[in-house]
Amino acid sequence: MCFHHCRVWSGWQRVGYGRSVGRGFIGCMGVLFLATRALNAEQAIPRAEPVRFLPALKLWVLTTDHTSYVMGLNERNELQAAYWGERLEGDEGLAPLHAAPEHASFDSSETMTNLEYPGWGGRYYNEPALKVILANGVRDLVLKYVSHEIRDDTLVIRLKDIQYDLFVDLTYRVFPKEDIIRKQARLENRTPDSITLESVQAGVWYAPPGEGYRLTYLTGRWAGETQLTRTPIHPGKIVLESRRGNTSHQLNPWFAIDAGQADEEHGRVWFGAVGWSGNWKLVIEDTPPAHQVRVTGGYNDFDFSWLLKPGETFETPPYYGGYSARGFGGASRLMHRFERDEILPDHDRPHVRPVLYNSWEATTFNVSEEGQKALAEKAARIGVELFVVDDGWFGQRNDDHAGLGDWYVNPQKFPHGLQSLIRYVNQLGMEFGLWFEPEMVNPNSDLYRRHPDWVLNFPGRPRSEARNQLVLNMARDDVKEYILGALDKILSENNIRYIKWDMNRHLSEPGWPEAPLAEQKEVWVKYVRHVYEIMDRLRARHPGLEIESCSGGGGRVDLGVLERANVVWTSDNTEAFDRLRIQEGFTFAYAPKVMSSWVTDVPNLNGRSTPLKFRFLVAMQGALGIGANLNKWSDEDFSLAKQMVAYYKSVRETVQSGDLYRLFSPREGELTANEYVARDGQQVVLFAFLHSQQFLRPAPTIFLRGLDEQAQYRVKTTDDRLVEKAEVMSGSFLMHHGLNFSLRGDYDSTLVVLTKAH
Ligand code: GLA
Repeated sequence: MCFHHCRVWSGWQRVGYGRSVGRGFIGCMGVLFLATRALNAEQAIPRAEPVRFLPALKLWVLTTDHTSYVMGLNERNELQAAYWGERLEGDEGLAPLHAAPEHASFDSSETMTNLEYPGWGGRYYNEPALKVILANGVRDLVLKYVSHEIRDDTLVIRLKDIQYDLFVDLTYRVFPKEDIIRKQARLENRTPDSITLESVQAGVWYAPPGEGYRLTYLTGRWAGETQLTRTPIHPGKIVLESRRGNTSHQLNPWFAIDAGQADEEHGRVWFGAVGWSGNWKLVIEDTPPAHQVRVTGGYNDFDFSWLLKPGETFETPPYYGGYSARGFGGASRLMHRFERDEILPDHDRPHVRPVLYNSWEATTFNVSEEGQKALAEKAARIGVELFVVDDGWFGQRNDDHAGLGDWYVNPQKFPHGLQSLIRYVNQLGMEFGLWFEPEMVNPNSDLYRRHPDWVLNFPGRPRSEARNQLVLNMARDDVKEYILGALDKILSENNIRYIKWDMNRHLSEPGWPEAPLAEQKEVWVKYVRHVYEIMDRLRARHPGLEIESCSGGGGRVDLGVLERANVVWTSDNTEAFDRLRIQEGFTFAYAPKVMSSWVTDVPNLNGRSTPLKFRFLVAMQGALGIGANLNKWSDEDFSLAKQMVAYYKSVRETVQSGDLYRLFSPREGELTANEYVARDGQQVVLFAFLHSQQFLRPAPTIFLRGLDEQAQYRVKTTDDRLVEKAEVMSGSFLMHHGLNFSLRGDYDSTLVVLTKAH
């Protein structure tokens, strides 16, 4: 089976790149611990072929600027993981792979071998990547190599069951600049019968065997999303998942693993993410006896089933993995760069995020043409560029009991339709945006009265409401087409540049009575695929349309939706001090550019009041928005806001697209400090926040990072807090001597901008 069948499209790499192919040893676990020369990330990196196949060794070597990923075929013709980490310079040490020997009859070779895509079958006992039932009742699946194809940065390896014509194509795409690899699996049923899929994962990432690993991940809740959580990994499983039909506030499909010593700037960190906005699962498993840590990710198999009919294919979500030797900060910067350069809908023609105004917190459902015009006029005065009307503009939507599903403009609130308001907003120099919650319906709505069968339900069972709403069965083609049509109509009739796509509850009673019984559980996956499809088709029909992904705050933030959404609503909690922690966790996985952050009124939902400047500086660390009731602002508020918005515009390119260094964590002390270095290194923006001050303790020195030691930087401040008064400082001074600030009292804050002097 095998190499003679390999098809190669183009870009076929020479065997034994670098130096000659060496004959070394690869341990039974398939992990290389051989001499490698670590490359300094700052060095100019000669770009290697991203995908190479070494026929003599039956190995594939995937290479990014700083990492290598090696896998190959063992003597059983199984695809086996071999190495993932720092880039290997040269192929010395690479050798054919061998399956792990059987440890005891209880620890089979199959289970001890790090299979790239393990089927559940034979003597395999770890979390499988694929579990199926064949039409004849066989539930045994053993996958072996068939062929492979290489095209530039992409490798496709084809596996097949040892008996049945169930094929699995594993696609690996290499992103050299970002040190990230994408795994994705596609199944194809070429048997004459339907196959029931019980678990379909996108792949498995393996860390080198050993003890002492830690898992870092993001947990949360409504109004308290993306809380950084860290726990030791011991034998057994840690399962991160969503069973809620969307990504969830509670857990986010991102992980990082380190060997126990990494910090913000140092240490080896392996990280990954599933790009899926529905039920996802990450299983972090430490399997004895080798202490092998593996992370399997893909669709959640809970309540999952898919009937794969003859001739059909089925694809998993993408599963990304990356490695950094520069700690969690290094890992985050790779993710940020990757999202900006490869994932976001505008990645190939990026533009800065505009300053936004949204009146939700100011007016809630009480929107009207006159009221919105008054706010728009004030927003324009302080430099807002995008004016968004939130909930309340449609149907009989006067509170959250009615109207969802009725996507027509409320004639009492907007007697001239939306056009008069939009024209006004445009004349003020702003773009216009509008809120939708497309997947939902209130029982008190025309839509529900017409189509009570359109919601998820099990016949005769309760239909649980949350926020007085039910969930439309988006898996149904008719529902999908209806919602697409309703949104498309409003977008076609009005000059709408931006939609905020909300989802204010999770799925429950996920019944789909009209579907054949064997296909009803497909609802979880089809629902999300259709949501994606609507977003994709709207974007195709309305070029330039931007989408904000929101689910009661940060409930739908993941690399799947970020292929369609330009920005996400980070949290309904806009209280600035709470936001410091929410935003910190957010930036472990997601770029500041997509992190929508508003300045709102105080006291906020937790009763806390922070100064307006503090609120601005917190929000300016992402995509700045304003959500305050401008009708209540004083002249001083307006003039400070105007100044801060102008300041933001002068640094936003750096904040949104630069490299973030988290210098002081809000989890650890009285000070939070974040530094952003522009991509070209010309501008550096430092934010510092004192949360509270006890015993008049001075704030600690802030040592900057990521600067050019030899360069001179011109220093600009917005206040008198900086102790060092020189106008120009060297990179070495800023990084080693550091900066001191006379921050005082509760919620003091400051901003320093450095510009490289030529
Ligand atoms: C959710 C969103 C808010 C707002 C309301 C409107 O809670 O997160 O920003 O849009 O819905 O009902």
